Amino acid sequence: MNRQKETLQKIVDPLLAWYERNARDLPWRRDKDPYHVWVSEIMLQQTRVETVVPYYERFIKELPTIRSLAGAPEEKLLKLWEGLGYYARVRNMQKAAVQICERYNGVFPEKFEAIRSLPGIGDYTAGAIASIAFEQPAPAVDGNVLRVVARLTGSQTDIKSTALKAQMAADLAAVYPAGRCGDFTQSLMELGALVCLPNQMPKCAFCPLQDYCFAKRHHMQLQLPVKAEKEARKKETKTVLLIVCGEKFAIRKRKEGGLLGGLWEFPTMEGISGEREITAWLTEKGLDVKSVAKAAEKKHIFTHIEWDMHCFLAVCGNTNGEFVWATPDELKAYSLPTAFKKFLPLLSIFG
Ligand code: ADE
Ligand code: SF4
Repeated sequence: MNRQKETLQKIVDPLLAWYERNARDLPWRRDKDPYHVWVSEIMLQQTRVETVVPYYERFIKELPTIRSLAGAPEEKLLKLWEGLGYYARVRNMQKAAVQICERYNGVFPEKFEAIRSLPGIGDYTAGAIASIAFEQPAPAVDGNVLRVVARLTGSQTDIKSTALKAQMAADLAAVYPAGRCGDFTQSLMELGALVCLPNQMPKCAFCPLQDYCFAKRHHMQLQLPVKAEKEARKKETKTVLLIVCGEKFAIRKRKEGGLLGGLWEFPTMEGISGEREITAWLTEKGLDVKSVAKAAEKKHIFTHIEWDMHCFLAVCGNTNGEFVWATPDELKAYSLPTAFKKFLPLLSIFG
């Protein structure tokens, strides 16, 4: 047995005992329905637990079954996801739901390989569903689990390494406790979320695994896990236009694919434009421009890109057919990503 596996073998019982006493009461833990586990795991991939809880409850209430997800209109899906970001997640979930209806008669498949081959489901999500919903010894190695295991075993490998992840998954799989697979998966996540915290903040004094932990024993909690420097985010400058005619503001649907594809936006020009350029751009779109003035500047940070947004108010005497024109109240029906929501408070001033 390799050393990592030996350490992992020792933590199983104390970690499960700790989990029983300390697990948070989260809505997706109240049953083991694979649909519920799936929805929660997809939401939790890029979003914090506190944020996810109300989104999860609303999603399951509005779309209670895999069939209802498969048949939901796109605008409803996007609305249910609004504010969570990374909309490809929910689009892929719908594709997968359609496949489950077509291939498995609407029943979530149990075999790991079948789960893994659904759209939007990678090793992590497949492991989470297989272990939590179907009690299979399938590890779910996310950032939390990588951090906990790297500290426990003293791994010096960059945690971005796929080889490290694969080795961890293999060693974890070998120690998964029969009958407690779902609890073991969630206990690792829970320790990472409540005790073995990131950013040099582990609460080792409260940790049920401190007697088995390499980092604790060698006072290396601050050096582990080893993380290579991230590449700097790419910066983009945008000119965002609040175009108002009477009480209505112009919005348009972004083109499909790419960042925020298919969602709605306030008409946006690449780069920073001046008032004359903006006037020319709007005039070309058939608008009678009365005035253009700088209104605000906002930043929005995505995973790999940062937007520096310069917002202008453009008052027009007419509307056109290229944009959709909506009052601030009507706007609520459209899925406007958070980057653009940052300008909504301005509408009540100008509308
Ligand atoms: N993060 C990812 N999956 C989770 C789960 N099932 N419970 C709590 N946090 C999580
Ligand atoms: Fe993490 Fe500290 Fe527990 Fe080790 S002892 S697993 S570093 S909280």
